[in-house]
Amino acid sequence: MRSTAAVVILCAGYFLLAGAFSHPPREWTRLILTQQWPKTFCSMEHCKTDISYWTLHGLWPNSGNMCNNSWHFNASLIEDLLPEMEKCWPDLLKPSSPEFWGYEWKKHGTCAAKAESLNSQHKYFSKALELYHKFDLNSVLKDKNIVPSEDYYKLDDIETVITDFYGVKTKIQCVHTKGGQFQSLGQIEICVDRDFQLVGCEKSNEEILSNEILPLAVGGYSELSVCDHSTPVYYPPLVTG
Ligand SMILES: *[C@@H]1O[C@H](CO)[C@@H](O)[C@H](O)[C@H]1NC(C)=O
Ligand SMILES: *[C@@H]1O[C@H](CO)[C@@H](O)[C@H](O)[C@H]1NC(C)=O
Repeated sequence: MRSTAAVVILCAGYFLLAGAFSHPPREWTRLILTQQWPKTFCSMEHCKTDISYWTLHGLWPNSGNMCNNSWHFNASLIEDLLPEMEKCWPDLLKPSSPEFWGYEWKKHGTCAAKAESLNSQHKYFSKALELYHKFDLNSVLKDKNIVPSEDYYKLDDIETVITDFYGVKTKIQCVHTKGGQFQSLGQIEICVDRDFQLVGCEKSNEEILSNEILPLAVGGYSELSVCDHSTPVYYPPLVTG
């Protein structure tokens, strides 16, 4: 009798633990609008770029990856968006190829699409473009005189401009040089809730535990990390010297 009870308790314990440590796909609660500085991206990836404005990297739900591998990207479904996509969401490695968009759709879009507001390729990509224009990071920085320059910035100055404007915490990422004399501004994440209202990008404890957002987006991005406050920030201009 005693041993049966012990087994029952053990089993119950096992299922409780299994429930706590396995991660059935949760509904996402936030989207991360990620923008990149092409010059910094290309310094990591050895590409050439003549783009001197922030471009889209992606619109990522905070939960889920590759949610529907049978839902293929089809550029003809977003034909009307393509001119804008090419301008605002360029593939810096393979200009004029739809590969990057296909990758973002497969990895993130199919998960975002669990929300009715984003449940088609057209809705997903047009929402990303809409948020990109609405948040207008390029103007926010330029208006406060944060412009590409050979002079270094203090992270505090950049952070203050961004935080004051959006009123929420964003995530500012840099590529650190080996010698550590400076860090190059590389990527900025702005977060919204399911109603597309700005929210802070801080991770909840639950997200940190479940570790569902993989830091690697595409190869090479492993070199990006949150900018640190003690190193000068380089915001690389297109043409140097
Ligand atoms: C996955 O995508 C396909 C193609 O659009 C669709 O028919 C199917 O219902 C989707 N599956 C799920 C689980 O959403
Ligand atoms: C892409 O979408 C178009 C328009 O709906 C459709 O005609 C075409 O068959 C689709 N292509 C593929 C490969 O699914």
